[in-house]
Parts: sequence; structure tokens; C-alpha cells
Amino acid sequence: MESSYYDQTRRPRRNRKNESIRRMVRETRIDPSDLILPLFVKDGRAVREPIPSMPGVYRLSIDEMIVDAKRAFSLGIPGIALFPVIPDSKKDRLATESANPDGLYPEAIRALKEAVPELQIFTDVAMDPYSSDGHDGLVAEDGRILNDESLEILRQMALTQARAGADFVAPSDMMDGRVGYIRAALDENGFTDVGILSYTAKYASAFYGPFRDALSSAPKFGDKKTYQMDPANVREAEIELDLDVEEGADMVMVKPGLPYLDVVRALAERSPVPVAVYNVSGEYAMLRASAERNWLDYRRCVLEVLTAFRRAGADIILTYHALEAAEWMNE
Ligand code: PBG
Repeated sequence: MESSYYDQTRRPRRNRKNESIRRMVRETRIDPSDLILPLFVKDGRAVREPIPSMPGVYRLSIDEMIVDAKRAFSLGIPGIALFPVIPDSKKDRLATESANPDGLYPEAIRALKEAVPELQIFTDVAMDPYSSDGHDGLVAEDGRILNDESLEILRQMALTQARAGADFVAPSDMMDGRVGYIRAALDENGFTDVGILSYTAKYASAFYGPFRDALSSAPKFGDKKTYQMDPANVREAEIELDLDVEEGADMVMVKPGLPYLDVVRALAERSPVPVAVYNVSGEYAMLRASAERNWLDYRRCVLEVLTAFRRAGADIILTYHALEAAEWMNE
């Protein structure tokens, strides 16, 4: 027994013995500057409509969205990711509403820019919120998703958002070649300062369920497996990274987050541009649901999850926890 006191020259617990030393040796820190808050905007005034599968998250009319955006910015959150709730009556096969300069989405972008000019607005480029088929690309008669035909629609959508004042357009559709196509369109139209955050490694995940409830955007038939990635794969994430960087992406993203930390690590090791991770709706719902049952300590779990993203190598975290997490970080 006695010898163990002499044999153990290495005792890792010494660096954990009190909070001061733990603070000193901490490798990973999280800060409100790392966060992007996703917001759902819908028509109307003074609307703050709860989303049942995402307690604490709301569909907001523009005036209410500005309240949350201001709060985010004052807590030190530098950006928001905006998603539109489009009524079924405005959806069609071609996602025509996505190019309407007087539509809800451009109006929301303009209002935000006016209210909080420095807050960075990341706009979503994909057909699903506007598509009567609920797919991210154009659907052919036989049900296939048409890649190159979709690009033209995404291009008009991105330009409409840039004209309204988007700081970054964020293609979440996973069509091949869309980053380069959108980059060229932005540049040709004088939007050389508008950046692209690409959803680079976006998986065909079951964790998007609550988001599709929020937007009523679930696919009307089939699934998204011919364009979103197979959860079993990591090598093609590296191909997507190379392509997106070559095509001009300013930032790349992995989505979902928690089940894909190895993918975050793989891209972080190779990416010449910042890597974002999307802590998606289903991940949020899991923690919320267990907190409601007192099965987990919600606050500690949220902070642990956000720390894990940074530890895996993410520079930026899109998370529905952003407002509460920033408040806790600022305490
Ligand atoms: C669609 C899009 C989705 C999300 C962001 N953009 C859903 C999907 O691909 O079906 C999901 C985000 C979340 O679950 O929080 N372009």
C-alpha cells in the first residue's frame, strides 16, 4: 500500500483541486460571441406563438422578432439565423414566394437591419419553407429532385435576400454546386460583401422534426436522402468541404450537432474557414423534455453541450438555447 504514495508521481487530480486551478487549466471557453440565435418569423402583429415540440421557442411576427433580436444583441450574441413561416396558400412547386421582394422574409430582413444594424443576419436559402412539395429542391414529375433546375431558384432567392440586407446567405438545401452558383450571382449583382455560410455537411437526420413542425415544412412525400447526407458517412463531408471552400464559402457548417461531433472535428482539422455547428431542433427538444420531467439539470446540460461543440472544434454554434445560455454566461 505504502509504495503507491511514491509510485504515483503523476496525479492528474492536482489540476482539478479547486475552482481557481480548474479555471486556469481550462482548455475551452464559451462566450456569447460564439452563438447564433435562430428565429422563426411569421405574418401579423404582436404574435408570439408557441411551438409545441420546442418549448421556449416561438413563431414571431416582425415586431416581436425585433424584441428578441435586440435582446440577443444586447447579450453579446452577434448574429441571428432567420427562417420564414409561409402559409400553405403561398406555397407552390417553384417556391415562387421566395423571390418576392415584398414578401414576409425580405420585409423582416429590412426591419431587422433598421432596428439592429450591427446584428449579422444569416438568411436561409432552400426551397422547403415555400415549396408545396416540402422539398429543398425542385421536384420532377417522377419525384426526383432536380439539381441544376433548382440552382436558378436558389439564385433568385439568395439575391432577393441580399437586396433586402442579408449579411450572409446560408444555403441549407444540399444541391450540388449551389455555393459557386450563388457566389457568382452575388458578385455579378454587386453584392461582393454578402458572405456565404454553407450547410456543408448536412445529414438526412431525424432530429429536424420539431423544426418542420415550426414551419409546417415536412416533405409531402418521400424523404431527403438523395440530397442530405447519410448519417453513416464522414468521408463525403470532406468532399463537401473541399467543394464549398473552392466555390467560395466564407464559413462551413455541420448539422446536426451532438450526434456528429466527430464530423465537426474532421472538418475543423482541415477547414481554412470558420466551422459552424447547428445544434438542431430535436437536440433542443430532448433537453427541454427531460428538464420538464426533472430528469436532467437543464442549465448544466446546455452549457456542457455548448462546451462540447467548442471542444470538438466548432467556432460558431447555432442554437435555440442562445438567449438563455448567453444570460448564464454573462452572470
Ligand atoms: C431546411 C432546413 C431544415 C433545418 C434548417 N433548414 C430542415 C430540413 O432540412 O428538413 C433544420 C433545423 C433544425 O432542425 O433546427 N432547409
